[in-house]
Amino acid sequence: PLRVAALASGRGSNLAALFAAHLPVEYVLVGSDKAKAGALQVARDAGIPTVAMSPKDFPDRVAFDRALFGTVAAAKPDLLVLAGYMRIIDASVVADWEGRAINIHPSLLPKYQGLHTHRRCLEACDSEHGASVHFVTAELDGGPVVAQARIAVGPSDTEATLAERLLVEEHKLLPAVVRAIADGRLTWRGEPLFQGAPLSAPVDLN
Ligand code: GAR
Repeated sequence: PLRVAALASGRGSNLAALFAAHLPVEYVLVGSDKAKAGALQVARDAGIPTVAMSPKDFPDRVAFDRALFGTVAAAKPDLLVLAGYMRIIDASVVADWEGRAINIHPSLLPKYQGLHTHRRCLEACDSEHGASVHFVTAELDGGPVVAQARIAVGPSDTEATLAERLLVEEHKLLPAVVRAIADGRLTWRGEPLFQGAPLSAPVDLN
């Protein structure tokens, strides 16, 4: 099966949704930059190995990223899922993962890269909001989008209601994309991703 590693900084609801989807994958490691992240407990509860490293213990960003991503690489994942991982990753480290790492971001990319996406959507008076899963590249939240989920924005919406409604959609979107990758239905720059996976119907989900 597809070997999947994940990195998360927060409560880990997307990670929990992934586990709950019972995908035909093997979770090899969950890592975090926060020792107290709920995501680590979610992983431990699921019996998945975890690692936490603090940026404070490293001289600079690239040293931290090399250590954390090197540990992830040692678990030999086919796919790395960023599920609420909230740190910018050094470009030299990202390069090692091109085409093998995906991120879930709470906006309809290319709109609202970075932080405070719900607030920015409200401030722009958008009639719809959404979440995107995209390939990770050196450009923050800028890699090719794989799939999106949309919600309507109403006059009474607040940052909190948008976040809450969008999360429900994120919890369907991320497992759907990982399932497509595990099934060999996703391609990267025209080439099938993950040569080991059965490629019954290769399609770009873009
Ligand atoms: C999710 O809404 C995810 O889209 C967002 O963080 C939240 C994590 O929630 N990710 C980003 O903002 C990435 N820049 P979770 O810890 O409950 O999965």
